[in-house]
Amino acid sequence: MTTLFALTDDQLAVREVIREIAGKEIAPWAAECDEDERYPVEAQKALTASGFHAVHISEQYDGPGADALTTLLVIEEVARVCASSSLIPAVNKLGSMPILLSGSEELKQAVLPSIASGEAMISYALSEREAGSDAAAMRTRAVRDGDEWVLNGTKCWITNAGVSSWYTVMAVTEPGVGARGISAFAVHADDPGFEVGAKERKLGIKGSPTREIHFQQCRIPSWRIIGEPGTGFRTAMATLDHTRPTIGAQAVGIAQGALDLSVSHLKDRRQFGKSLSEFQGLQFMVADMAMSIEAARTLVYQAAAATEAGAANATFLSSAAKCLASDTAMKVTTDAVQLLGGAGYTRDLPAERMMRDAKITQIYEGTNQIQRLVMARSLLR
Ligand code: CAA
Repeated sequence: MTTLFALTDDQLAVREVIREIAGKEIAPWAAECDEDERYPVEAQKALTASGFHAVHISEQYDGPGADALTTLLVIEEVARVCASSSLIPAVNKLGSMPILLSGSEELKQAVLPSIASGEAMISYALSEREAGSDAAAMRTRAVRDGDEWVLNGTKCWITNAGVSSWYTVMAVTEPGVGARGISAFAVHADDPGFEVGAKERKLGIKGSPTREIHFQQCRIPSWRIIGEPGTGFRTAMATLDHTRPTIGAQAVGIAQGALDLSVSHLKDRRQFGKSLSEFQGLQFMVADMAMSIEAARTLVYQAAAATEAGAANATFLSSAAKCLASDTAMKVTTDAVQLLGGAGYTRDLPAERMMRDAKITQIYEGTNQIQRLVMARSLLR
């Protein structure tokens, strides 16, 4: 018999363990973290204690060396109960990927073991106020001064800024040549001239801090450049090929959480003298929700495998997966609120939080308009 797709026994085992941890140690705090806009310290503790905070780091750097699909399973299961907490493993992958892809051995040894042990977290700093979708229009400057690089400028929308110790920062080293004049650096929160700005007031993922980070004559040793000067933008884009599926996994997790809630509501609630599960209009709604989640999940897993294998269509699949999964999460969570009716619209149940959290997955790591542009370019080039 032909097996088109199946998780391995190891992957199934990881999913079972992380599902249990998420249910017992992360879910109980999800509503409170959202309500109080506070960082999910309980989730960070539980993920670190079980080694699930940065599973993608290879054994060479003291990590568990999980493959891309296993990393997605971790993110998906955490997002099913708390999207904010799922950004701990997701952003650790995003922030460290430029170093894994392009960093020197010295830099890898200096940064990655601290992420693997949970002693430090790492964020990714590409965007600026005036350089969001048009990332190459960034203004942050890095100038070589003897054995150091000196950074000046501001990066914005930095996920987990303030809780991370390390930041991969893209900055202009050669003005006037566009993307080819951008380099990537590893900056530490203790570096002189580095400062974290105020927390953004957001619609969702309220447990995960989003802040600006500022560089004022910020001096870092020259060996902290990631790759050669001028290669930073390419590294940043290649990183997103690897991590857009992680946002897809986050979206699938959020959508699955909303579907689970909808199914139990339909079974539990009675109206017009019968169970809601007996109304065909509502049956069709949950069937559509489940169908689109399965389609998104399959594409997201496929994109992770393709990216890891270096497949020729990895960039296309990575954008397609993030785009489809996040649009699915938005639709499914909106339908969940509808199915739950008045109760779904209140903060007593998690459906409205899931709907607010789903929205960001259509925006970050490139808006879904940018994903369509990336897909079209790879089809038409
Ligand atoms: N892999 C490797 N290199 C790539 C690449 C890829 N996938 N895509 C582009 N490049 C290279 C190109 O080959 C080119 O290099 P050369 O000049 O050496 O040939 C260089 O990068 C410039 O490419 P483009 O001309 O295509 O660049 P562009 O300016 O037209 O921009 C874009 C392309 C796709 C619009 C890009 O700017 C983009 O992805 N924008 C969205 C930014 C984004 O996703 N931001 C997310 C921020 S992170 C975040 O959100 C994290 C969080 O909070 C959790």
